[in-house]
Amino acid sequence: MHPLFTLEGRKAPHPIYKRLRAEEPVVQILEPYRKTPFWLLTRYADCVDMLRDPRFGKDFTKLPPEVKGRLRVADEFDVLGKHMLSADPPDHTRLRSLVAKAFTPQIVEGLRRRISTIAENLVSAAIAHDSSGMDIVSQFSYPLPVTVIAELLGVPASDQDDFRRWTTTLFTPADTEEKLANLRATGFAFLQYFMALIERRRAEARDDLVSALVAAEEGGDRLSTQELVGMLFLLLVAGHETTVNLITNGMLALMDHPEERERLVADPTLLESAIEEMLRYCGPVETTTYRFALEDVEMGGVTIRKDELVLASLLSADRDESRFPDPDRFDVGRKPNKHIAFGYGIHFCLGAPLARLEAAIAVETLLRRLPGMKLAVPREELEPSSMLLLLHAKKRLPIQF
Ligand code: HEM
Repeated sequence: MHPLFTLEGRKAPHPIYKRLRAEEPVVQILEPYRKTPFWLLTRYADCVDMLRDPRFGKDFTKLPPEVKGRLRVADEFDVLGKHMLSADPPDHTRLRSLVAKAFTPQIVEGLRRRISTIAENLVSAAIAHDSSGMDIVSQFSYPLPVTVIAELLGVPASDQDDFRRWTTTLFTPADTEEKLANLRATGFAFLQYFMALIERRRAEARDDLVSALVAAEEGGDRLSTQELVGMLFLLLVAGHETTVNLITNGMLALMDHPEERERLVADPTLLESAIEEMLRYCGPVETTTYRFALEDVEMGGVTIRKDELVLASLLSADRDESRFPDPDRFDVGRKPNKHIAFGYGIHFCLGAPLARLEAAIAVETLLRRLPGMKLAVPREELEPSSMLLLLHAKKRLPIQF
């Protein structure tokens, strides 16, 4: 098994990436659970070049059956997986433009008060529950973004426990028949849930994103029902697990670097650059999702053959010493900071303005309300949240204050 997939590699991937950038910047490795070979890019320049290159596609229906078969999970995921992040132009352009206007910085700014209220309430509830400490992940980072995205879409907040269970399954490697069955059941649960929600909004529209998308679907051929379900799935999954981990990783980085934390507390104008540095230094999305070569492509001295799969390691690119001076230093005032934690090219994160706003409010609220916070367990006991490469995250972040 490649060291990146071991427990040590999940806990500390940076030394492995450093070696890969120096010695094997474009390397073929095997995903151990589904036995899928893929090329991993670790240098900033290669990642950016690949992500903006139209010779790499995302629409897996174009792949030959044996490659497609290796990536396939179940019928349910064929439906859920039909969204903009698995589409190439012109489908990608059409799907993205249907929701792009809901996520512009101006619209998102309108959510500031509501997000602040949710953040304040979560801290108050945690203190009321136990005035000496909390787990940042389950009591704060997790419920904040899921509540925001659920409200934006029009999903009742009471359903968020189901979502938590389902998304945890999504990020657990299905390496046994039992786990695969669980994954399939989760796909089915998501599908049933979204179909029922769509029917409710079809019967009675509300002022929410699901109703707006149902109207687009009914308005003609711009959005099929399958694409509508895929869109909801993507927004929910992409919009929460990622933000949870930005808040968690960011708070951990501040606790690991007390002098940078003090600097930020003393000068709140650094908040914006601090969030950018958290994205670069400990970004929550370790690698992009798979792309594949639409034709043979030369990259970093090797040939990536048609139909072969490729992943860009954003975490590695953002520590590339040829791009960032002193890359392993956490500097809340770092400028310039052109990290690629939100990806690059046509699939650049649609939710970036929302994620940035949520993280800024979260970090500001936690620093102000819990000034004495410190880790409640030894640093090395913090466990990775998943054994898959996609997310760079911790299962729990217990603190005392
Ligand atoms: C810190 C939080 C977040 C990070 C680090 C992040 C990161 C990313 C990355 C790296 C991609 C590109 C993946 C690839 O190219 O394979 C992406 C795509 C996407 N993200 Fe985010 N994301 C975050 C939060 C959000 C939020 C809050 C939403 C929406 C509610 C969202 C919605 C999306 C969507 C819809 C795409 C697909 C865009 C497309 O295919 O054109 N993300 N995100």
